[in-house]
This record gives sequence, structure tokens and C-alpha cells, in this order.
Amino acid sequence: MKIKTLAENMSVSDEYKSEHGFSIYVETQKHKILFDTGASGLFGENARKMNVDISAVDLAVISHGHYDHGGGLKTFLDINSQAKIYLNHKAFGKYYARRPNGKNVYVGLDQELLPNDRFIFTGKQLVIDEELVLFSAVKGSVLNPASNQGLLMEQDSSLVQDDFAHEQNLLIREQGTTLLLAGCAHNGIVNIIKHLVALGYDLPDYVIGGFHLYNRPADEFEDPAIVRQIGEYLKITCAMYYTGHCTGIEPYKILKEILGEKIEYLATGVQFTI
Ligand SMILES: [Fe+2]
Ligand SMILES: [Fe+2]
Repeated sequence: MKIKTLAENMSVSDEYKSEHGFSIYVETQKHKILFDTGASGLFGENARKMNVDISAVDLAVISHGHYDHGGGLKTFLDINSQAKIYLNHKAFGKYYARRPNGKNVYVGLDQELLPNDRFIFTGKQLVIDEELVLFSAVKGSVLNPASNQGLLMEQDSSLVQDDFAHEQNLLIREQGTTLLLAGCAHNGIVNIIKHLVALGYDLPDYVIGGFHLYNRPADEFEDPAIVRQIGEYLKITCAMYYTGHCTGIEPYKILKEILGEKIEYLATGVQFTI
């Protein structure tokens, strides 16, 4: 599997622009996959620089209904005329974030993109083929990110705490190697991995995603003691982790102390093969 980071909060060099967003390209023997589009058309610009042909992508996944993961959807639809786009059936719900000044800001997807017959709306689990499985409905409550507080969803015309039912994760299996992709891991990366195992899958060999241990508008990091507990759990899975985006630099440093060479930062422009 070839992995290329098309958008992330930082860049590996001046050659690539970065943004608060997340977009990963994965190429397997069977598929050319775009996992999230970042916040804008930047993923397309970086894809060209990294020799990724977005028009040849055959399948796209949006991890959840936040703009920093699906904000580039319009650009993707413009460049690519064939790929189906998999979204949780709640991904086009109305999602908001409470800013430190008390104002609620819309952070959901562009409602103008609806309807579109290229969208495939998913539920609890969807086995796409022998390589790809999507799953949502992660309900665990272990080590949930504190920075979820202040993230809201519209329900019955009022705003309530987001339950992140709109979040899905992708498992890729190729020739005995497994990769778990999470977007922001709002449901908690530990819960997501436990849920995967509860569904009957082995622990993944590799995990890529943001772990949502940073509240960007408030510039607050997750409690270091909680980050340590997350790190200790991730360590016993023996998987290799690549993280960035909403993980935040301070939590990343703590995870790095615990996981050592089993975790790497995933900046825009980073590419590798697993
Ligand atoms: Fe995010
Ligand atoms: Fe998010």
C-alpha cells in the first residue's frame, strides 16, 4: 500500500502548503482511495505535486461531517467524474462548534452538494469488498477526547452535544497487511480500535488518523494523564501509528515518549509504503 498525505496542519517542507484539515491518499493493488478531502481544494494542489492523479481515484471516503475533512468535496467532484463517495448517513447533519467567545459556528459539510447520486450513505458497517470495510456506531466510553465538548449538532431545532454518530472509519486489508484509517477519532481512538476487534477483526498493523487531543479554537490540549493512558493502550496493540491534525503537538510528544518508533507525525507531503 502506498500512502500519501495530501493535507494536514503542518508541512514536511515549503513545497507543500498546509491547512487545518486532513486528506490521505492510499493506493492498493485494487484501489486508488481518497480518505477525506481536507478543508479546501488544497488536497488537489498537493496531489499534483505528489504525482497523484485525483481523476483516477476510484473510491472516496469522508470520515465525518466536519468541514476540515469534507470541505474539499466540491473540488473532488469537479476533478473526478467517476468515484463513489462514501459518507455516514448522518454526515450531512448540521454541526457546530462553540468558539471561546461563546458564538456557535457552522462546521458541517456544504449542504448545497446535496443531492448527488455519487454519494453512498453508510450505516453501522459496510463491507465494500474483500479489501475495504467501513464502520460507524462506535459507542465505547473509554478515554473519550475532552475536546469534543463544545462540538454540537442540531437536533429538533436546537443545538445539543454532538454524539459523533456521523463518524466512520475505514479498514483496508491487503495481502495480510491491515490499515485502520480514522479521521478525527472523535469517538476516541481506543474505542475505535476496541470496536474493530469487537466486530471480529484482528488488531490492525497500521493506524493513520487524528486523535482529537487538541481543542484548536481554545488552544487547549488533552490532560497529559489521559494522553498517557491512551499511549499505554496503543502501545499494547503493537500497531504502527501515524498521526497529526487534531492530535496536537503536545499530546503527540507524550505519545512519542511512550510509543517511541511505533508512532510518527504525519505532515502534508509525507509519503511511505507499508
Ligand atoms: Fe478534524
Ligand atoms: Fe472533526
